Amino acid sequence: MNDPWWQTAVIYQVYPRSFADGDGDGVGDLSGLLARLPYLASLGVDGIWLTPFQPSPQVDQGYDVSDYCNVDPLFGTLQQFDQLLDLAHSLGLRIVLDVVPNHCSSEHPLFQQAIKSSPGSAERALFHFAAGPDAVTPPNNWQSVFGGSAWSRVNPGSDSDLDWYLHLFSSAQPDWNWRNPLVGDFFADVLRFWFDRGVDGLRIDVAHALFKAEGLPDAATTGAVIDGLRSNPLVSDQEEVHEVYRRWRTLTDSYTPERFLVGEVNLEPHRAARYTRSDEMHQAFAFAFVRLGWDTNEWVAVGRELEAARLEHGASPTWALENHDIVRSATRFGGGSRGAARARAGLLAILGLPGGAYIYQGQELGLPEVEVPLAARVDPMWERGGVSRDGARVPLPWTVSPERSHGFSLADSTSSPWLPLPPSWGSSAVEVHQENPDSTLRLIISALELRRQLAFKGVLNPNDAGAWRVENGNLLICERGSDFLVAVAMGDEPARLPTGSAVIIASSPQAVEGWLEPDNAAWVLQN
Ligand code: NOJ
Repeated sequence: MNDPWWQTAVIYQVYPRSFADGDGDGVGDLSGLLARLPYLASLGVDGIWLTPFQPSPQVDQGYDVSDYCNVDPLFGTLQQFDQLLDLAHSLGLRIVLDVVPNHCSSEHPLFQQAIKSSPGSAERALFHFAAGPDAVTPPNNWQSVFGGSAWSRVNPGSDSDLDWYLHLFSSAQPDWNWRNPLVGDFFADVLRFWFDRGVDGLRIDVAHALFKAEGLPDAATTGAVIDGLRSNPLVSDQEEVHEVYRRWRTLTDSYTPERFLVGEVNLEPHRAARYTRSDEMHQAFAFAFVRLGWDTNEWVAVGRELEAARLEHGASPTWALENHDIVRSATRFGGGSRGAARARAGLLAILGLPGGAYIYQGQELGLPEVEVPLAARVDPMWERGGVSRDGARVPLPWTVSPERSHGFSLADSTSSPWLPLPPSWGSSAVEVHQENPDSTLRLIISALELRRQLAFKGVLNPNDAGAWRVENGNLLICERGSDFLVAVAMGDEPARLPTGSAVIIASSPQAVEGWLEPDNAAWVLQN
């Protein structure tokens, strides 16, 4: 049997609010995305992952879902979604949607029914409701990821209803109680709804956190209950969660072997890999990798850990350097021109690694993190915890001209974009990159084309191992198979490539053959 497409797929992440605004209301939408699909097809990616566009009060920009099986009017209609799916498929692009099973919106009808019902009722049993030791003390010491207690009182003024409800994120995002089998059935229907419509894959939000430790015990520390890789073992990564993914895998495979699940499993590689055993999800993002600095030793250590996890659990790695939750890599890698060069090199590097890769919108334009003015920030994490993710979510610049917010809005409008665009944005516009043969956009298009050709010639085998090492202190190498390697110069001096190296693509021109300039990456054939 052929290797499944998703194993080596390159998927482009679309954050719909900020991609393209078709109706001119300042918020990106499905009609904007429909109009810009040919751009995505021109990149040569295999598919797109859309973050939530389902009905939502938008407290967490869509990750607070009030109806899992529809489209929020802010973004369009279900009919437009069907058009999008058809057009994408006709352009050879697969569509991956976000499913948010850990929590819903406090406006979800089932949560609304729960708060109107009495303590101990079947309606409340769909969520985590519990009374505290007294009216003002929550049931346990868990802290929300967004800051503050993970519990809110249902009826703060009431003497008869002393229940609190659990929310690992904002108070507008109550957590489902996955120990109630009705929740599992509810989500199986949600998966079927989207697969029946024809979507190709689903990305599972906070996939490791659905089950909380039995009895909801106090956490040993007062940090956030799930805090990236330092996840509290009492609160997330419970063994029972794997049953969910076994059920979902069976459901997904009952369509075609082409459909797939990719998890946001924010755990150490050896724990995350357990979610992609052969009867669970197909992929999980290599989160340990997403958070790396520009440091050869860090990359090698994590690369080796991922490789060990792959060998142990058969998990095919899924690379990403950016998403809508983390600081843009150009800024993370030092900012300025060196940060920009490193971000470009990092992106070229991950596209050469064995496995699948994700590109976050704007990464192909080398966009840096934006310092969004305080008054314009809307991220609930900023409001509750003082950390803002808005700077990675600023609308894309399409044109040099500032008209219609640098082409972000496709219709005339008097509405400002939902996050302000910085004055420099026009210089990073898509049209600037399209016209410049040395741009990051053109580099990525060439790399994806080359990736297809090499795979076709059998050079890039999806089952390649990745052997990681550092040479001469500052040259990072990931060697796959016997004749292809990815090299990244991470120091301040040019780095000598291994003998017998032929560079087939580099993130910027090479001054001297056989050497790699600092902040530069190359794909290399070995002879
Ligand atoms: C992860 C999503 O990527 C993030 O944007 C969101 O705030 C949390 N999960 C909660 O859904």
